[in-house]
Amino acid sequence: MNKNIVCIGAGYIGGPTMAVIAKMNPDRKVLVVDINKDRISAWNSPDYALPIYEPGLVDVVKEVRGKNLFFSTDIKGAVKECDIVFVGVNTPTKMFGRGAGRASDLQYWEATARDIKEYADGDKIVIEKSTLPVRTAAAMDAILNTHAKYRFTVLSNPEFLAEGTAIKDLLEPDRVLIGGPQDDVGIAAINEAVDIYASWVPRDRILTTNVWSAELTKLAANAFLAQRVSSINAIAGLCEATGADVDEVARVIGADRRIGPKFLKAGPGFGGSCFKKDVLNLVYLCETFGLHTAAEYWIGVIKMNEHQQERIVSRLFREMFNTLANKKIALFGFAFKADTGDTRETPAGKVARLLADEHVRLVITDPKALVNARRDLADLDGVSYIEDEYKAVESADAVVVMTDWRHYPALDWRRIYGAMRKPALVFDTRNCLDAAALRKIGFKVLNIGK
Ligand code: NAD
Ligand code: UGA
Repeated sequence: MNKNIVCIGAGYIGGPTMAVIAKMNPDRKVLVVDINKDRISAWNSPDYALPIYEPGLVDVVKEVRGKNLFFSTDIKGAVKECDIVFVGVNTPTKMFGRGAGRASDLQYWEATARDIKEYADGDKIVIEKSTLPVRTAAAMDAILNTHAKYRFTVLSNPEFLAEGTAIKDLLEPDRVLIGGPQDDVGIAAINEAVDIYASWVPRDRILTTNVWSAELTKLAANAFLAQRVSSINAIAGLCEATGADVDEVARVIGADRRIGPKFLKAGPGFGGSCFKKDVLNLVYLCETFGLHTAAEYWIGVIKMNEHQQERIVSRLFREMFNTLANKKIALFGFAFKADTGDTRETPAGKVARLLADEHVRLVITDPKALVNARRDLADLDGVSYIEDEYKAVESADAVVVMTDWRHYPALDWRRIYGAMRKPALVFDTRNCLDAAALRKIGFKVLNIGK
C-alpha cells in the first residue's frame, strides 16, 4: 500500500509541492501542517483565497483539497498518521550570534525534528525539502535517532521550482534529486521517495545521490544561477560606459550552446528569498572549512548584486539634475519578479529605501504585491500604494520599472506621459518596454546596460 505523506511547513514550498504530489498520487493521503494558524486558514479558505499567489495553483488545490490533500495545524496527529515526513520549514539567514548574516538559522528545522521524534509512533522516512547546509542530515539523524524508540531514515530532496512558474516546474521538472544513505535501509528509503515522483516524472529525470551531494547540490545550483545574473549585470555597467548594448551581448553569448541563453537577462539584480541566503550559506561553509578564496569568490556575487541597485539610484540622481528631493517617482512593480506577490529581498525594496533617503515622494504600484510592499516599507513616511498605474503617475517626474510584469508594455504610455510632469523620465530596469516608441512619445528613457 502506498504510504501517507505529511509536509511540515505550509509555505511557498510546502503548499504547491504537496498539492502537485497529491494531484499526481490520488491513492496517497497528503497532509500539510504548519504552526501558523492564519496560513492554514487561508489554505482552507472556502473561496480559495490562498496565502500565496502562483499561476495555476488554485486549480490544483481545487482539484485535490478535501479529497486526498488536507491542511491543518495538528502536527502531532499528522506525524502519527504518516510514514513519510517532508520538512519544508523556513531556513532564513541567521541574524544573531555565531555565523550572523551568513549561516542558515536552523532553529525552525531543529524544532521540527524534535516534534517528529516526540510524536512518532513508528519508523519514519524524514525528507529534507528545505534548503539546508551540507551535513545537516547528520545533525537531523543524531537528534532523531539518539535514544529513539523508532528508526528514522533521513533523506535530502531539495526543491528546484522557481516562484511564478512553480506548478509548471513541479509538473515538468528538469530533474528531481533524492539523496540518502548508501546502505540497505537508506537505499530502500530512497526508492520509496522515488516512487512518489515516478507517478509522473520520467525515471531518467529522477537523480539519486548520496545525502551530502544532494544537500550541497541545492546550494551550488542556486549559487550558479545567481552568479550568472551578477555576471551579466557586471557586463551591463561596462555597456553603459562604452556604448555596447547588454541585450545584444547577452543574445550572442547565450547562442553558444556551451553557455545557453537562460539567466542572462540584465536587470535590477536578483531578489527572492533564496539566492542571497543560499550564496551566503555557501560562503559560511567555505569559511568554516578554511576555503577563504572560494568564500571571497561567492561574496563577489552578492556585492555585485547590491551594487546594481545603488547604480540605479545613482543614474536617476544624475539624470534628474542631481536632486531628487520632493520629486515624485512611481515604482512600477515591487515583487522580486513577475507572476508572484513575493517581495522577499526584492531589488525594489532597496531602491525604494535609497530613494526615500533622498526625500523622494514615492508611489508604489504592483498588481499582486501591494499588501507585502506596505508591510515591508511600513517604517517609511510619505509612501503611497496605488494599484492603478494611471493614477500612480499623476504629476510624477519619473517611472522606474522594477518588475517585468507582462502587462506593462501594453499600458497606454501616451496617457501616462500626459499625466506626468515634464520632462518625464522612464527608467526601465528590466528592459521590457519598447524604448524607441517611448522616446517618440516624448519620454526620456533609461535602460540597464545601454
Ligand atoms: P515560507 O516561510 O514560505 O514557509 C515556511 C513555513 O514553515 C511557514 O509557514 C512557517 O510557519 C512554517 N514553520 C516554521 N517552523 C515550523 C515548525 N516548527 N512547525 C511547523 N511549521 C513551521 O518558506 P518557503 O519559501 O516555503 O521556504 C521553505 C524552504 O524551502 C527554505 O529552506 C527555502 O530555502 C526552500 N526553498 C524555497 C523555494 C521558494 O521558491 N520559495 C524554492 C526552493 C527551496
Ligand atoms: C530560484 C531558482 O531559479 C530555483 O531553481 C530555486 O528553487 C529557487 O530560487 C529557490 O531555491 O528558492 P526564484 O528565486 O523563485 O527561483 O526565481 P528566479 O526565476 O530564479 O529569479 C530569481 C531572481 O533573479 C529574480 O529577481 C529575477 O528577476 C532575477 N533574474 C533571473 C534576473 O535578473 N535575470 C535573469 O536572467 C534571471
